[in-house]
Amino acid sequence: MPHKDLLDIVSLERGEIEHLLDQAVPFKDLFTRSVKKVPALKGKSVLMLFYEASTRTHSSFEVAAKRLSADVTNFDVAHSSITKGESVRETIETLQAMRSDFIIVRHGRAGLPGTIARLTRASVINAGDGAHAHPTQALLDAFTIKEKFPDPSGKRVLIVGDILHSRVARSTSTILKKIGVEVAYLGPGSLVPRVGPENIRRFTDYQAAMAWAPDVVYLLRVHMERQDVQYFPSLREYHRLYGVTDARLAEIRARGLYIMHPGPVNRGVELCDAVMDYERSLINDQVENGIAVRMAVLYWLKPGAVMG
Ligand code: CP
Repeated sequence: MPHKDLLDIVSLERGEIEHLLDQAVPFKDLFTRSVKKVPALKGKSVLMLFYEASTRTHSSFEVAAKRLSADVTNFDVAHSSITKGESVRETIETLQAMRSDFIIVRHGRAGLPGTIARLTRASVINAGDGAHAHPTQALLDAFTIKEKFPDPSGKRVLIVGDILHSRVARSTSTILKKIGVEVAYLGPGSLVPRVGPENIRRFTDYQAAMAWAPDVVYLLRVHMERQDVQYFPSLREYHRLYGVTDARLAEIRARGLYIMHPGPVNRGVELCDAVMDYERSLINDQVENGIAVRMAVLYWLKPGAVMG
């Protein structure tokens, strides 16, 4: 059954995930046609409410909504009355009067999209909230993995880096486990929480993690802006211990592993320049697939009554 909102991956059944991933396939096929638009959401309005910076997610949602023929309004947070102290609740009540059908929210505070969802009839899509969730990133990651492994059951994905602060690690590992993929974490002990999802192997040593024989190495951005204290000695040291250096890329290539990264990348930290030209890098595929998956999400959700 379609949902009103998409706030996290935990709330999706496996069948719903499979449905969304299947639905994204014909939307991706559209991209190769001369006319890339369909009238599915003609007359519907989409409000983009981004309180945090974003390149990929923001532009991807905007393109997705426009390819479905929706009208898109960008709420300019920097020039809004929020800068004069207006609360999120007041802002939402004002925006509610505009009768948007969809509100796409990114905010540094975990749970804020859920609060907005309860205040509005619009379908709310979480575009990333603090270290909590980033469900459409997870869907596009699952879609990208399924393109390479149509039956991903038993495949292994090693997620490397700042797990502690990463909404991507949380949502992507949840979706991968739901579709049968085995997940492991690798990073400094200070950034790989011991408690958390079950059935996820934890590694702090790069070679031990590679011995686990992953099919995909999924690199995370080191979130310097979310780290209130120093979690490792230096970025240079992080690169030496956990980054994909030229030498590690040679080993990854020899083993035929895929590399993924949600972006934006920190060159010289998570990866060396050569990763961007690696033939099994899926980083650009992730960006392209993000549009198709977000079209599927917008098409599937059903705006409705005010909840709660
Ligand atoms: N992957 C991701 O969320 O990127 P942006 O911060 O550029 O949206």
